[in-house]
Amino acid sequence: MEIKKAVIPVAGMGTRFLPATKSMPKEMLPVIDKPVIHYVVEEAIASGIDDIIFITGRSKRSIEDYFDDSPELESHLQMKNKDKMLKLVKDISSMVDIHYIRQKEPRGLGDAILTAKKHINEEPFAVLLGDDIIVNEKPCTKQLIDNFRKYGRSTIAVEEVPMEKTGSYGIIKGQALDDSLYSLEDIVEKPSPEDAPSNVGAIGRYVFTPEILDCIKETAVGVGNEIQLTDAIRMLNEKQKVYAYKFTGKRYDTGDKVEYVKAIIDFALNKEDMKEQIKEHITGIDL
Ligand code: G1P
Repeated sequence: MEIKKAVIPVAGMGTRFLPATKSMPKEMLPVIDKPVIHYVVEEAIASGIDDIIFITGRSKRSIEDYFDDSPELESHLQMKNKDKMLKLVKDISSMVDIHYIRQKEPRGLGDAILTAKKHINEEPFAVLLGDDIIVNEKPCTKQLIDNFRKYGRSTIAVEEVPMEKTGSYGIIKGQALDDSLYSLEDIVEKPSPEDAPSNVGAIGRYVFTPEILDCIKETAVGVGNEIQLTDAIRMLNEKQKVYAYKFTGKRYDTGDKVEYVKAIIDFALNKEDMKEQIKEHITGIDL
């Protein structure tokens, strides 16, 4: 079965970027001229997704506005003959079919995904967390979809993370099947380095069979008093094999300030109209 639907939870608080995120969702922080969430949606589309379900919460209205038509802005640009800009703005609202579900209370990532159950309708689906931008010719989500096609089983993207950072990730124990594929043996949410079964972490891209939703339903409150997706993945793995896939690509965790700045620098250095000036600026910095 083809994977056409993606769930993108955007209900988190974004406390690491306060005060900027006091009145603006963290997913709307720009990397040059596009908000982070735009890159995530682009990855989904480039992976073959044509139906996106955003799980939103309080103060996420600007995300809806961003992907909506904007008649006033469009007529203004038309009047000023700014055709290129007009096309850019119009393209955003016609990118993909988007639906919004509001998570009334933030009860954890697992709970957020479960709110999409009706819309998912017993189909396999992808999940993309809104913080990471992953750059690769073949998008990370597409890599997972291809593994799903091969084995017909849920596949989660993983990467080796610094041992001292295991407390920020779902950490797996896996049996390596080849250079990039693990058969999942266990997954633990945010263990301390001493308790971590490895330093291989889930990075926020998943492809699931619909059975994950039944597992989330049965999942009790876990770490941080939240219904954890990680706990539901462990349960799913007991019923139906789950794979972990070491994706190819460069990941920027834009929810982290240093990574966010690195993303901006790298993206600027990749833009023809900016790169020379930015290079000149960087080489001129007195370190
Ligand atoms: C979530 C998941 C965690 C995963 C991480 C990836 O945590 O709970 O298992 O490794 O995303 O970014 P969060 O970053 O929302 O705290």
